[in-house]
Amino acid sequence: MKVKSVGVIGAGQMGAGIAQVCAAIDRKVILCDIKQEFVDNGLKTINRNLERSVTKERIVQEDMDETLANIQTTLKLGDLSECDIIIEAIVENVDIKKKLFQDLGKSCKDDAILASNTSSIPIGILAEVSERPELVVGMHFMNPVPVMKLVEVIRAKSTNDSTFEATFKLAEDLNKVPVLVNDFPGFVSNRILLPMLNEAMFCVMEGVAEPEAVDTVMKLGMSHPMGPLTLADFIGLDTCLAIMEVLHKDLDDDKYRPCPLLIKMVKEGKLGKKSGEGFYKY
Ligand code: CAA
Ligand code: NAD
Repeated sequence: MKVKSVGVIGAGQMGAGIAQVCAAIDRKVILCDIKQEFVDNGLKTINRNLERSVTKERIVQEDMDETLANIQTTLKLGDLSECDIIIEAIVENVDIKKKLFQDLGKSCKDDAILASNTSSIPIGILAEVSERPELVVGMHFMNPVPVMKLVEVIRAKSTNDSTFEATFKLAEDLNKVPVLVNDFPGFVSNRILLPMLNEAMFCVMEGVAEPEAVDTVMKLGMSHPMGPLTLADFIGLDTCLAIMEVLHKDLDDDKYRPCPLLIKMVKEGKLGKKSGEGFYKY
């Protein structure tokens, strides 16, 4: 099956990036969120990214115009009913995602693939409630989507061959490198990455070093492009906490206990770059 049209749900940092890269390879994209201001912000991000690419002469103005013309927006889930694939990139909360997959199972055309960009939630949980478990798959992009090459393609026990193959092929068409991963909490990427970010937070909480020092150690000592606390702020501390909670609960191992400092910061509304403050101020 060739994917010609893509519904993207959630116009936040991931959804906007996913809509952009799909539109850039000439897929018709419908970007959906719950409020007009969120959709508008997503479109602004896409505009900004494309303008930067034009300025840097990676694309020409015509490419930018064509990409933008491929994107429609909506606040109504029903408008995605004819899309070949839906890629969900809403908040990392299992109950909210389950409700969405129930609704999508009812409102999308019968052969539409339902993909989740979840960072950690086992795909089988979403497949179970969708009324089409064989058409549900994980398509886990990395942030920032237009730059990062990896897509984890998560195959749940119920995912059929054609769903997996079409999703893998879409990732290749996007000029990404898809990697097959089995359906475990946090997959590969976040099972490895998030405990490191969490440990960096423990270092700050216990007074081992200030955030700048922790980041400098990992940047200059281990050649990481961003220090772990800068990266946590970039991902979103709410998302980091949600991922740690899934790892802790579903793998049932205290080594994944979320750092109390992370819990406190999220309670205080310090969500990182997106809220203006996290380990750093923006
Ligand atoms: N959106 C789009 N493009 C962006 C961007 C953004 N937010 N930020 C940077 N870029 C582009 C720039 O335009 C630039 O492109 P060109 O080279 O073509 O000009 C390129 O990326 C490099 O940017 P900069 O020179 O400004 O900065 P940099 O060299 O520091 O790179 C970075 C920025 C690519 C983000 C780099 O710091 C990096 O790789 N950081 C780590 C990112 C990472 O680990 N991502 C994974 C997060 S975990 C995840 O995604 C999974 C999850 O579920 C939580
Ligand atoms: P975000 O907070 O930037 O955006 C989430 C968007 O979803 C918001 O605009 C919100 O209004 C919208 N939304 C919430 N409920 C909705 C619903 N029921 N219907 C439609 N829209 C809804 O979050 P994000 O960082 O883009 O993360 C989105 C998803 O992608 C999460 O599952 C996250 O774990 C995953 N993810 C995040 C990153 C990252 O680095 N931030 C990387 C990979 C995957």
